[in-house]
Amino acid sequence: MVTLIVNGVRREVQAPNDTPLLYVLRNDLQLNGPQFGCGLAQCGACSVLVEGKEVRSCVTAISDVVNQEITTLEGLSARWAKQKGLSTEEAKSTLHPVQQAWIEEQTPQCGFCQNGMMIKATELLESNPNPNTAQIKEAFTTGISPNLCRCGTYVAIIDAIKHAAVIMAKGK
Ligand code: FES
Ligand code: FES
Repeated sequence: MVTLIVNGVRREVQAPNDTPLLYVLRNDLQLNGPQFGCGLAQCGACSVLVEGKEVRSCVTAISDVVNQEITTLEGLSARWAKQKGLSTEEAKSTLHPVQQAWIEEQTPQCGFCQNGMMIKATELLESNPNPNTAQIKEAFTTGISPNLCRCGTYVAIIDAIKHAAVIMAKGK
């Protein structure tokens, strides 16, 4: 039995310690935001935040994230609501600025990679609330591997991150 803290909730899972976090999120906890792309930490489709940092869940053993704060795409709006100190009622109707910007900019094409793009964008904006184009490109192309989009939505992602930064600055 392994205890994980996912989107603010303690979850007990019955799985071997070396089970990839991605498998547990999707198969045991029914959190289908993270996607199985390459399975080799080379694309970013499976990304989640662990203690605020983007982690490739396809190569992360559950034993490595015990008692750490895991946030999936499904938990982004609650994460934002908590950061802004919103009431429970307000939180129910609140989108994370990254989600709102992605919708308003109509960023995805097929959508498969977009979980990782939004997780990466959230990590970036929490450390740099007003990134320029070069900083966005650097964030998405360094680290364990670049975040890959086969549909080529890279320009739209840059626009959406800048839009999200404006929404965040307004604080709602
Ligand atoms: S599926 Fe994890 S990085 Fe590609
Ligand atoms: S939107 Fe299709 S892979 Fe990125």
